[in-house]
This record gives sequence, C-alpha cells and structure tokens, in this order.
Amino acid sequence: MSRRQNAIETLGRGQRVVAPSMLKCDFARLADESRALEAAGAKVLHWDVMDGNFVANLTYGPPVLASVRSATDLVFDAHLMVGDPERYLDEYLAAGCDAITVHVEAVPEPTKLLRRIREADVASGLALNPGTPVEAVEPFLDDCDLVLVMSVEPGFGGQSFQPVALDKLRRLRDRLPAEVALSVDGGIGPATVADVSAAGANVFVAGSAVFGDAPYEQAIAELDRLAVPAVSSPQS
Ligand code: DX5
Ligand code: ZN
Repeated sequence: MSRRQNAIETLGRGQRVVAPSMLKCDFARLADESRALEAAGAKVLHWDVMDGNFVANLTYGPPVLASVRSATDLVFDAHLMVGDPERYLDEYLAAGCDAITVHVEAVPEPTKLLRRIREADVASGLALNPGTPVEAVEPFLDDCDLVLVMSVEPGFGGQSFQPVALDKLRRLRDRLPAEVALSVDGGIGPATVADVSAAGANVFVAGSAVFGDAPYEQAIAELDRLAVPAVSSPQS
C-alpha cells in the first residue's frame, strides 16, 4: 500500500484515532518514546514542528524526524507550524513523514503545496487556528486528505480547550467526504474528547492527556473509550 494510502487508512475513513502530540515527551529519548507509544497502542505520532517564527516556540525539524523514522513504522503526522513550509517541504518528505499538515494562515493559497504533498505520495493536511473561519479553508478541501482544527492557539501544550472549535468541526464534517480525516488539536483530554468526537472529529491530538502521570496505554485507552460517540437513545 502506498504511503499516502496507508496514512489515509490509518487517519481517515471514520477511524477513531488518538494521536499523541510529541511535544511533552522526553526529547532526549524520542526513539524509545516512539516505541513505547507504539507498544501502548498508538497508531500515529503527531509531530509538532515549530520554527520560532510562525509560533513563538521552537521544537524540532527534518533531521530529528528522520532519525526517529527508523525506530518505528507508526504513521508520522507532521503538523508544520512554520512560516514557509513550501521552502522545507522536500526535507520533510525525505524525513519520512506520512502526512504533512500546513497552516492556512501561513499559506493562504495552499492548492499548489497540497498537491505537491500528494504527488509525493504523502497525505495532505490543512490546519486552521481558533480565530480563522472555516471559509478560509473551504476552497481547498478537495486537495486535503486531512483537516486539522486547532482548539488552542498553536505553539504550546497544556492550554485550555477553546469551544469555538466545535462548530467548525460540525461544519467541516458535513462538508468532507468520509475518507478525509478531521483532526482536532489542543486541550484534548477526558473532559473534551467526547464533545469533539460528537462534533465530527475522528483524530484526537493529545499531549498533556497522554504524557501525564498515567501509563501511555491507560491514557490512550481512556481517550479512545471516551471518544465513542454517545449512542442516541431510540426515542431521542
Ligand atoms: C500546539 C500543538 C498541540 C499541543 C497539544 O501548538 O499543536 O499538538 O501540543 O498539547 P495539549 O494536548 O497538551 O493541548
Ligand atoms: Zn499539533
């Protein structure tokens, strides 16, 4: 199966996926952490790439992702919080990313970039911040294998969930074909995962909720259990 198809099978088609955000993990042991998350049942790793320009924080880039790539076959879901993703795209492709998401705030006309990502057999993703209306991404949905709705301002983990994401998730779910992944990112934990799932998200990016005190397997299983949409009772 092609890299992009594998990413779509893992992230899209209505699968419920907890995506650990590799921001609060132990950066000194990224390969071990990746293997531990795989053993704990994770199917994807959400890499929060920050350039200190698009967001006021700096994390890691292609060399780090390339070095961890050999440690695990998990889907690498790269969230590029960078000001000029097109300039570095080839390096993220070479590093072994399976899905690459760029911000519409950084690339207001992303069609060419999204198609370049797909042509490289990688799933294409478009992200929008809490303050960005859904209208900003609607013209480009046909070129997206994933849409990432930010429920916090990008840049840092541990922030509070912003409910403005819920209506955007509902509108996007109604618009998107079933195979397109709808991901939500920021403040996702036991108290919020059911709401975002009911609103239509199927990929739940979680940092603090996974890299807390509980073992990874327990934290991921708990989010997955709570994300099950409430079965509407027959009379409702
Ligand atoms: C923020 C990142 C998020 C964040 C999630 O810029 O994109 O993935 O790390 O962390 P929590 O789950 O702690 O909000
Ligand atoms: Zn992220």
